[in-house]
Amino acid sequence: MSSTPVLAPTREELATLLSSARAGGRPVGFVPTMGALHEGHASLIRAARERVGDGPVVVSVFVNPLQFGPNEDLDRYPRTLEADLEVCAREGADLVFAPGIEEVYPGGPPQVTVRPGPLGKVLEGKTRPGHFRGVLTVVAKLFGLVRPDLAVFGEKDYQQLTLIRRMALDLNLGVEIVGAETVREPDGLALSSRNRYLEADQRADAVALSRALRAAQDAAAYGAGVALREARAELRAAPGVDLDYLVITDPDLGELPDDVPPGTAARVLVAARVGTTRLIDNMPLVLGRASEQGDS
Ligand code: PAF
Repeated sequence: MSSTPVLAPTREELATLLSSARAGGRPVGFVPTMGALHEGHASLIRAARERVGDGPVVVSVFVNPLQFGPNEDLDRYPRTLEADLEVCAREGADLVFAPGIEEVYPGGPPQVTVRPGPLGKVLEGKTRPGHFRGVLTVVAKLFGLVRPDLAVFGEKDYQQLTLIRRMALDLNLGVEIVGAETVREPDGLALSSRNRYLEADQRADAVALSRALRAAQDAAAYGAGVALREARAELRAAPGVDLDYLVITDPDLGELPDDVPPGTAARVLVAARVGTTRLIDNMPLVLGRASEQGDS
């Protein structure tokens, strides 16, 4: 494990560095990012390190134009490579792949892309058409360049994680997909590079998202309906939160049957706009069938 990661700005440099790193036959861990690294990303690097031991950990820093919609400001996305390299060094990443666009899209805009299927059209996919096609396409490309044994993604972007798992399965990519728990501020707000856009009053409202999810978790023993009701009450209490969706699904984002047996694992997901910033969050929960008056 080196303390200063080597920077590879091209595919050729990446390939050369990886071929020597691979020589020992140790597993390669990979953390794809778009940069603007924060403690959440640091935890992904640590998770990769834990799993590969003294095998190489590669972090990519690439702002992928293909996953931005026409109304989403690609140019506004923070580019902070120097600071990102410091995070990678601190967390013991071995190699940082920070390519230009021509390295990732050598043939220009791609004609062959990865379609996310039905799950790409719901929740985030409904508001951001084409987003997951862009994500899956670049992740597949990065997997092709890095050829990792495992790759770590945050549970914060739960739909992205679920779709990447599905892609790895459906396309036999041979990469183990590891989900890492969301890192939160002490008051519960999920870390996100978008939090930097929140004004102080918006920051105060934004915490309602995690409060709502926790309320859902606490009420889950009484069933999905009660859990959603409690979560909605938290969101309503924050005037600046403009709710997009609040749903409870199965752990793979499929629909839950009406009558779930007690102890059923599920996921609660929320998306809302706070000012002009769109925030998402999610948490696991276990559904029960207790009555509202009775014990859970
Ligand atoms: O989660 C992200 O930062 C991006 O969507 C990813 C997975 C690096 C693909 O560009």
